[in-house]
Amino acid sequence: MPADDAQEITDLARRVAELRAEIELHNRRYFELDEPEISDAEYDALVRELRGIEEANPELATPDSPTQRVGGAASSLFAPVAHRTPMMSLDNAFTFDELVAWGRRLERGIGAAAVDFECELKIDGVAISLLYEDGQYTRGATRGDGRVGEDVTENVRTIAAAPERLLLPKGTRPPSVLEVRGEVYMPVPAFEELNARQAEAGARLFANPRNSAAGSLRQKDPKITASRELSFWSYQVGEISGGDVPRFRRHSETLDWLADVGFPVNPEIRTVSGLDDVYEFCRHWLEHRHDLAYEIDGVVVKVDDLAQRGELGATSKAPRWAIAFKFPPEERTTLLKDIMVSIGRTGRATPFAMLEPVFVGGSTVSLATLHNEDQVRAKDVRPGDTVTVRKAGDVIPEVVGPVLAKRRRGLPKWKFPTTCPSCGQPLVRAEGESDTMCVNEDCPARAWGRIAHFASRGAMDIEGLGERTVIQFCELGICRDVADIYALDYDRIRQLEGFGEISITNLRNAIEASKQRPLANLLIGLGIRHLGPAGAAVLVRAFGNLDRIEQATEAELAAAEGVGPTIAASVREFFADERNRALVERLRGFGLNVTGPAAPDVPQHLAGKSIVVTGTLDGWSREAAEDAIKARGGKSPGGVSKKTDYVVVGEGPGAAKLTKAEELGIPVIDAAAFGRLIETGSPDG
Ligand code: IVH
Repeated sequence: MPADDAQEITDLARRVAELRAEIELHNRRYFELDEPEISDAEYDALVRELRGIEEANPELATPDSPTQRVGGAASSLFAPVAHRTPMMSLDNAFTFDELVAWGRRLERGIGAAAVDFECELKIDGVAISLLYEDGQYTRGATRGDGRVGEDVTENVRTIAAAPERLLLPKGTRPPSVLEVRGEVYMPVPAFEELNARQAEAGARLFANPRNSAAGSLRQKDPKITASRELSFWSYQVGEISGGDVPRFRRHSETLDWLADVGFPVNPEIRTVSGLDDVYEFCRHWLEHRHDLAYEIDGVVVKVDDLAQRGELGATSKAPRWAIAFKFPPEERTTLLKDIMVSIGRTGRATPFAMLEPVFVGGSTVSLATLHNEDQVRAKDVRPGDTVTVRKAGDVIPEVVGPVLAKRRRGLPKWKFPTTCPSCGQPLVRAEGESDTMCVNEDCPARAWGRIAHFASRGAMDIEGLGERTVIQFCELGICRDVADIYALDYDRIRQLEGFGEISITNLRNAIEASKQRPLANLLIGLGIRHLGPAGAAVLVRAFGNLDRIEQATEAELAAAEGVGPTIAASVREFFADERNRALVERLRGFGLNVTGPAAPDVPQHLAGKSIVVTGTLDGWSREAAEDAIKARGGKSPGGVSKKTDYVVVGEGPGAAKLTKAEELGIPVIDAAAFGRLIETGSPDG
């Protein structure tokens, strides 16, 4: 063997050993200690690298490699249970290409043009095996290493969704042995409540619903498990013998039967024919994963025909008849460089994390809010920590918590600052409040916040006047309050970097146009505490102009339908302040619209949404549909683009628009869904 090749093999062998040791360590942390220190995606990447090397260099593959085994060993907390048939793992597909390649291989193997597949959600919980003897629940076990799991019989008994007895029609003999496999999980709202309780009690927070499900199930005291809201989906029959049980030919038949005898079977499961529909199912759930009340981390695709499954068989680790299509990661670990505090327009001091940029959930994240002092304390994240960052239901990134195993010894706890980072005045946290405030009305950060809020989309909607520009103008000393926007010194702006004639003209026009905004927008822009779009619209309808609102007594304000005592008091307080009255007077002087009823009568729940209508909608003329969108604050442009939120399709739609929508993955809705969108702001009603 040439020396270079020998060197390469030695290097690879070293890397293989390294990877195996690392994977073993993470297996232990994940499966036995419920305390993972890397994200699932990072774990998967290690396994893939190892598998890649082993496949390319078969001489390096060994039967005891973690690529050949499932999960971790059972811990000593619980009695060991040997599974009668091993609980296998699944092979993963990380891209559509990998999924389709698997499907094609399989079709070729079976010799069928279109195989029937069962598409199931991949529930992010804990795999469990439930044993029923003569129809009675007798044992529950975790997966462990696939051959030996942990006895959690009594803990599972506390889960209402796992039946105690099979529900069989009278006269039917129960199977003497039935093993049902499935996933124990914690619904997301229950996870959030549990963490809120943990925070209150000063206890450690769970990183995600999966960890909280595992931690809750693996309690020595089943009473603790009982106090946690766990649930269960069944997805597979293991061993089955005796009794009056139908002869199953298809996996879907076993699931129907499981549902009949009382097991929860996930309602989203679909039997489809051919790979196109599998692809559609995966694509749909990739987009809608957060519409569910529980977390999923992918889709499991299984061959439906049990005879075909038999033909395909299994490797030592996983069946060949199933694959897990894994969604891209929404969790990553990164370095927490520092914790800073930002001051909002109300004076609220919000701590936020400055992160080593990390790509997670489709974008690069370098900042994430930490909400308030208590949250930082509960999570106990410290500058210098490696932290888990996550993008969950919405697009706002969140710091989940520290990776304690990676914490440097003696890393100091972070302390909330005692003075405002902007004006230097003391920060105040009132008794019983969770927010810490800068109470200095003249704090520059508060002024920036007020001006940026005034110019923002939901208020006066001045394009080109975002937070960064506002800060620039404030620092230049040309903009101290919202009225100054209408008397900007453009000669000085011209000298700023990045301001050419075009951007100045655009800004001027946008500022000019804002003078005609409805009065409700102006009221919102003033940033009166507790006054949102609904309250502002009510005030305009009830009083008609700014003068009357300004003059109204607290009782008069509260008498307007839809204005509660809190808003009434707050509006009154705002206009009682002489400085605010002077500000409003100056705005009036600049010619801003101060009269209704230009304020919208209809709820603005489509504000910021772009909805394209194509074809003839049942029950709507094209104009009426577009007017309805605009009246609710939305836009209805003629063409589909990246910015489009929905494409509404009627009879005879434009093909180009539909294709474009499909290409860009924009939701396409029908006339009925459009009706709901107009009524409620959501096509689902
Ligand atoms: S089937 C041999 N179906 O994913 C087939 N597994 O990575 C075994 N999982 O250990 C599993 N949802 O914990 C199957 N609908 C589903 C699933 C599912 C979640 C988990 C399960 C399994 C792991 C495999």
